[in-house]
Amino acid sequence: MKFLKSTLDERSSSPEMHCGDFLDLIIEELKKEDSILSEGFALDLLFVLLFASFETTSSSLTLGMKFLVEHPSVLDELTKEHESIIRNRETMDTGITWKEYKSMTFTFMVSMIMYVNTFYRSRISLFKLNLSVISVAGYTIPEGWAVMVCPPAVHLNPLKYEDPLCFNPWRWDQGVELTGGSKNFIAFGGGLRYCVGADMAKLQMAIFFHCLVTKYRY
Ligand code: HEM
Repeated sequence: MKFLKSTLDERSSSPEMHCGDFLDLIIEELKKEDSILSEGFALDLLFVLLFASFETTSSSLTLGMKFLVEHPSVLDELTKEHESIIRNRETMDTGITWKEYKSMTFTFMVSMIMYVNTFYRSRISLFKLNLSVISVAGYTIPEGWAVMVCPPAVHLNPLKYEDPLCFNPWRWDQGVELTGGSKNFIAFGGGLRYCVGADMAKLQMAIFFHCLVTKYRY
């Protein structure tokens, strides 16, 4: 927060715009007479965006590297998927196309297990406000109560996932989780506050894996 505050002060006092990035937009908003932002709220926003957009993807990928080293069969399958994409490419010097991206089924399964694993470790909980009285498993939750949702409890459910602690991307092989919303996969949350960066995170991870397994060897 100290770093963010000093960066905000430094940029606010410099007359030039930088790259029109998020910080510039925040400063522009803060300078307005009828601004909806206070400085404290602006700093919170910057902090949350860094956490939500950077820490999530980078920690998933960091763990991903570790798991790939420990699970050579997963690495092999991933490499096969991406080598086949490159073999079937019509023009060799193009980047990844949308069609290729959509064909990365195994890559999506690997990414899903990584989001889920990030959750086990960071112990992130989601908070929701209960808008009406509901009954769950014999408990009554009154209206207006805050509910703490614990995604690891969902992802480690042994009734849904056989050996849930095992690093097994194939667990989603046949499931709806791969293509649509499901109450058994809530790594990006669910409902109205569903992660706005989910599709970007998936794309980033897929491109990262593509480069990793086609350009590098451990
Ligand atoms: C592996 C990557 C990521 C994971 C696992 C993840 C997970 C989540 C979760 C669980 C939520 C809360 C949903 C809820 O309360 O129901 C959330 C919200 C959010 N995420 Fe992500 N996220 C990821 C990447 C990103 C990226 C790349 C961005 C932005 C570029 C982003 C921006 C946001 C924002 C702004 C919210 C708040 C949405 C709202 O409250 O309406 N996330 N994310």
